[in-house]
Amino acid sequence: MLVKKHLYWYGYDNTERAISKLESKYVFNQEEKNKLLFSDLKVDPSSSAFIKKRIDIISYSEDYSALIKDIKKANLSIEGFKVEYFVFDGDTTVYSERLEKLRDIGYSIEGTPDYHQPTLTYALCLCEGIWCFGLVLKNNFDWYKHNQKPRSYSNSIGINIAKALVNIAAEGNKEKKLLDACCGVGTILLEACFAGNNIEGCDINWKICIDAKENLSHFNYSAKIHRSDIKDISTRFDAAIIDLPYNLLSSATDNDILHIIESTAEIADRLVIVSISDITTLIHKTGFRLSDYCSVSKKGKTSFARKIWVCDKES
Ligand SMILES: C[S@@+](CC[C@H](N)C(=O)[O-])C[C@H]1O[C@@H](n2cnc3c(N)ncnc32)[C@H](O)[C@@H]1O
Repeated sequence: MLVKKHLYWYGYDNTERAISKLESKYVFNQEEKNKLLFSDLKVDPSSSAFIKKRIDIISYSEDYSALIKDIKKANLSIEGFKVEYFVFDGDTTVYSERLEKLRDIGYSIEGTPDYHQPTLTYALCLCEGIWCFGLVLKNNFDWYKHNQKPRSYSNSIGINIAKALVNIAAEGNKEKKLLDACCGVGTILLEACFAGNNIEGCDINWKICIDAKENLSHFNYSAKIHRSDIKDISTRFDAAIIDLPYNLLSSATDNDILHIIESTAEIADRLVIVSISDITTLIHKTGFRLSDYCSVSKKGKTSFARKIWVCDKES
């Protein structure tokens, strides 16, 4: 196993496994394995719904005493630090031994620990036979506040999926110009703004656009929202997310759906589409290549699943 600068620790339930893997593939160019991923890329855990913690590796070794020597050599000096032991799959170290190891690390760092209000947190873990020690950055889950947005909509997409769609569309690059082509009340826009992505929204329904604007300004975010049929947008975007209309509230015929996909394909180089039915034939009609696909079922509702289609312009 190749240890890199950062170790990402994932957490998700079974219904989100496929979309979490798809997100890691587009952000890190590799899929997380057993909820762990090493990478030299530095990503804020709070920009993903599935990354729970990032450990910035300070020392690592197959030999535990060599690791302790290395930590001592680093001359870490910090008041109010904390050390946590993260137990990963395959680590059989018993609790008493884990406590001893935490003590070893504590004595290797200069300063008085503070377990209640630490200034920073270090972690020790055993990952595929390698002891790793590093600084922890946790997902702050501040974005949960978006669940309390003033305007919501029964067709709104889940907040975890919304974050993943942004990351898949942007491929981890905050400079990419994104469009949410059917933005509704702005669930995806909120997550993109929170993470610092460059995004605009569009929706054909003027009332829904007003709601989306209210949601954005409630959290002090700003993103341009076009009150328009997507066919009338001519600005170009690096990627577009399309959460297609479905059910009674935002019903659409097959022709409407084709029209939305084709119009968006004209102004974006990559499409990340959400549908509840198979749209393979419609994607082929746009001339885009279907690069990836996954399905996310709703927790507790195995019969309702959202299908996520990643499509790239044929070069
Ligand atoms: C499934 S909803 C999107 C929900 C949104 N992601 C959210 O979380 O609030 C689909 C949206 O597509 C919009 N829509 C339908 N036809 C459109 C078109 N031709 N151009 C732009 N928006 C359209 C509808 O008004 C509806 O708000």
